[in-house]
Amino acid sequence: MKKILVTGGCGYIGSHTIVDLIQNGFHVISADNNSRSNPSILEGIEKTTGVKVKNYTIDLCILDDTHAVFQENPDIAGIIHFAAYKAVGESVQQPLMYFENNLNSLINILKCAAEFNIPNFVFSSSCTVYGNPEEVPVTETTAWREAESAYGSTKQMGEKIVQQTANATHIQSVLLRYFNPVGAHPSNNIGEIPVGQPANLVPAITQTAIGKLSQMKVHGDDYPTRDGSCIRDYIHVSDIAHAHTLALNYLLEHRNSSNCDVFNLGSGNGHSVLEVIGTFEKVTGHKLNYAIGPRRPGDVIAIYANNEKARTILGWTPQYNLDDMMLTAWNWEVKLNRDENLFGSKNATLN
Ligand code: WQD
Repeated sequence: MKKILVTGGCGYIGSHTIVDLIQNGFHVISADNNSRSNPSILEGIEKTTGVKVKNYTIDLCILDDTHAVFQENPDIAGIIHFAAYKAVGESVQQPLMYFENNLNSLINILKCAAEFNIPNFVFSSSCTVYGNPEEVPVTETTAWREAESAYGSTKQMGEKIVQQTANATHIQSVLLRYFNPVGAHPSNNIGEIPVGQPANLVPAITQTAIGKLSQMKVHGDDYPTRDGSCIRDYIHVSDIAHAHTLALNYLLEHRNSSNCDVFNLGSGNGHSVLEVIGTFEKVTGHKLNYAIGPRRPGDVIAIYANNEKARTILGWTPQYNLDDMMLTAWNWEVKLNRDENLFGSKNATLN
C-alpha cells in the first residue's frame, strides 16, 4: 500500500481527497496546523472509510518541523500539497500574509521532496492563474493575465516554483487548476467547515438559509454577464478529490508526458451567482434572504473551464451537477448546525 502525504489534509478539498485516496487503496498521512481547518474532520474521514488518519499538526513554514515528518516517513511515495490560504477577498487586503504562508510552505515541502527523493508531486493550483480571461472557456494553454488577487499571484508563482524545481530535480509533478469547488461528500460525514465569516459563495448561501447569517450580499449585479452577476465554474468537491487520485496514478504509472503536466478541473459549465442562488432555492425549497451589494475587489467577471484534457488524459468524468452540489452543501450545513458539539465551539458560534 503506497503512502501518500497530503498537506492541508484537514481542509475542505484535502479531507475529501484523503477519503478518495483511501477508497482507492492508498495509505495516507496528513500535515495540517489547523489554522484554517478543524481536526474533527478526521473523525468524519474515519466514519466514512474506517481508517484513522494520522495528522502532523505542524506549520509547514517551519522547515525543521516539516523535515521531521519526512524523516519519520521515509516511505512516502507521493505528495499532494493543498496547504495554503485561499480566500480571494482576504488576499487583496493582506497580500504579504498570503505570499509568506503560501510560498514558504510550498518551498519547504519541495525542499524535502528533493532531499528525500520523493518522485511524485501534485500541486493544488487554481483557475485564478488565468486572471480575467479574454475568452471562455479557458484551456490549459490560455495565456495567463494579471492575477486579480494575491491569492491568484501565489498560485501563478507556485506553478513556476514547481515547474522550475521539477526541471532541476527528479520530481515529476502535476498542477491541478481547480475552478470553484463546492458541495459536500454524499455520506454527509465530511464537508466544508468555514472558520469565521465565510468568504465563499456557497457557505454564505447555506449559512444564510440556516440562519447563521441574517442576509447574504451578492457582490455586484452590474457586470457584463447575462444577469449582471459574476460567472464561475462550480465543481463538486468529490469530483475534484477523485481527480487527485487519478493524477497520482498518472504519475505513479509513469504515464505523464512531462515533468510538470497541468490540468483544468472544472465542470465545463459557467453559472452566475444569481443562478446558483436560484438552484439552491429550487433544490432545497428555501427562499434565500439576499441583497445586491457592491462589487468585491479581486473578482474576475466570468471564467469556466475547458476540461477536455483531464477527461481524455486522466480519464476524469465529473459525476455531480449543480443540483447535487447545492443539495449536498445544504445537507452538510443542516448537520453542522445540528451537531455543533460534534465540531467544537470553534465552528459552533460562526458569526
Ligand atoms: C464566487 C462568486 C463572488 C460570496 C474561489 C476560491 C478560490 C479559487 C477560485 C480554488 C464571486 C460571489 C461570494 C458572497 C457573493 N478556487 N460571492 N457573495 O472568488 O471565485 O474563488 O474559486 O483555488 O480558492 O475561493 O469564489 O465563492 O468567493 O466567489 O456574491 O457572500 O460569488 O463575488 O463572484 P472565488 P467565491
